[in-house]
Amino acid sequence: MAHAPSAASGTSASRHSASRQPSATAIVGLQWGDEGKGKIVDALASRFDIVARYNGGANAGHSVVVGGERFALHLIPAGILHKGKPAVVGCGTVIDPDWILKEIDGLIARGIDCSNLMISDRAHVVMPWHKHEDELREKWLAAKSVEPIGTTKRGIGPCYADKVQRGTAIRIGDLLRPEQLATKLATTAPFKTAVLSAMAQGGDTSAFHYDQAELLKHAAMWASRLKPYITDTSGFLLDQIDTGKTVLLEGANATLLDVDHGTYPYVTSSTTCSLGAPTGTGIPLSSVGAILGVMKAYSTRVGGGVMPTELIATEADRTLADKIRTRGREFGTTTGRPRRVGWLDLVAVRYSVRLNGCTGLCVMLLDVLEGIDTLRICTGYRDASGKDVPFVPDANWLSNVQPVFRDVPGWHGDISGARTMAELPAGARAYLDLVEEFLGVPVAMVSIGPGREQLIHC
Ligand code: IMO
Ligand code: MG
Repeated sequence: MAHAPSAASGTSASRHSASRQPSATAIVGLQWGDEGKGKIVDALASRFDIVARYNGGANAGHSVVVGGERFALHLIPAGILHKGKPAVVGCGTVIDPDWILKEIDGLIARGIDCSNLMISDRAHVVMPWHKHEDELREKWLAAKSVEPIGTTKRGIGPCYADKVQRGTAIRIGDLLRPEQLATKLATTAPFKTAVLSAMAQGGDTSAFHYDQAELLKHAAMWASRLKPYITDTSGFLLDQIDTGKTVLLEGANATLLDVDHGTYPYVTSSTTCSLGAPTGTGIPLSSVGAILGVMKAYSTRVGGGVMPTELIATEADRTLADKIRTRGREFGTTTGRPRRVGWLDLVAVRYSVRLNGCTGLCVMLLDVLEGIDTLRICTGYRDASGKDVPFVPDANWLSNVQPVFRDVPGWHGDISGARTMAELPAGARAYLDLVEEFLGVPVAMVSIGPGREQLIHC
């Protein structure tokens, strides 16, 4: 789907757009990922003209269940499941071409039309050396007895690092210019061989001898297959906004994994919160009107880093965590790793809500908490001396806080068939009321099962 700048790109159109109502809505995760953003994007996509992903790469895993069939998406926005709707992979993403091709092929094989997929020519390419470096760095930390970041090993951090370093970065658009790509590879491949071989410290370095001819051949395959999708998506989106089209912005990863605002250094490498949506797609800040924060009814985290409300201290905690993990299918969509489980941490979520400027909340996986007599919600942090302390997005700070819990009665009985708030048991409604009151933002949707229809619009 090639894009040529339209007549609307001129000055009069810009004046015109200045008076427009915001036409974009952002969907952001409020915890450490896997909140169910894909399901919300899928639920709202039909109301928008375009769906655009603004950050991350194949580290994300968004699953959507349609008619009992589960679709696991990593790079392609969940909007692709809506026929005919442009699904944009924005300039703020990092793309492993082999991975996105596998995803396209998988979707097509299941009858999903991918002709409306658009990939930014300015998105960055995850090259083999990025994945190798990701792995080496994690090993390095472990060897030095430092808790590794626990990355997905998809090359995300090293690719974003190259983007910022510039000299050795490769963008998707470069794939369509073989001569330029050959020049870039001629500088970059030997550099990466040298750096990674040194990092391997006497280990096996054979994988780091990048054969330029082989790479060029492989990149030519990427180019020929991806060409129909590669375009100036930023220009496309600006033009669409000028003509009054609406955009649903799909955030990947989540706020507490944001590189600036998350629980650093146990974060990912992009701006995952709503602040990343304009830069990651190339649309103006003023075009984002609504921001929907997606949160689970409890907490999960995968990879390293502290989670203050983690259910881990006692045997009973771990048993409950196992129960929630099994019921909530809390195993990584991307890596299959079991997710760490904890009570809902409203202190952390309130931080995310304020940072994102959320206008509404989507509470997900509420059904998973059914049958637990007493539920705990973290409503404060204290330090070792018992003094109240705030949430600070820093791993060191958080490893020294103690959660303060409010205990609330749970509810019994399956709620997955409820379709209105009135059909929820009193305990579940009280739980949601507490969330809403503490966060000061209305609950807009409640998910009570994986299916498309298992979503209550409040
Ligand atoms: P979705 O979109 C859960 C975590 C990784 C690791 C850290 C850094 O499915 O919500 P990276 O490979 O990005 O360098 O890893 O961030 N992480 C996620 N955890 N869901 C995600 O995305 C994640 N994206 C990154 O587990 O701890
Ligand atoms: Mg995930």
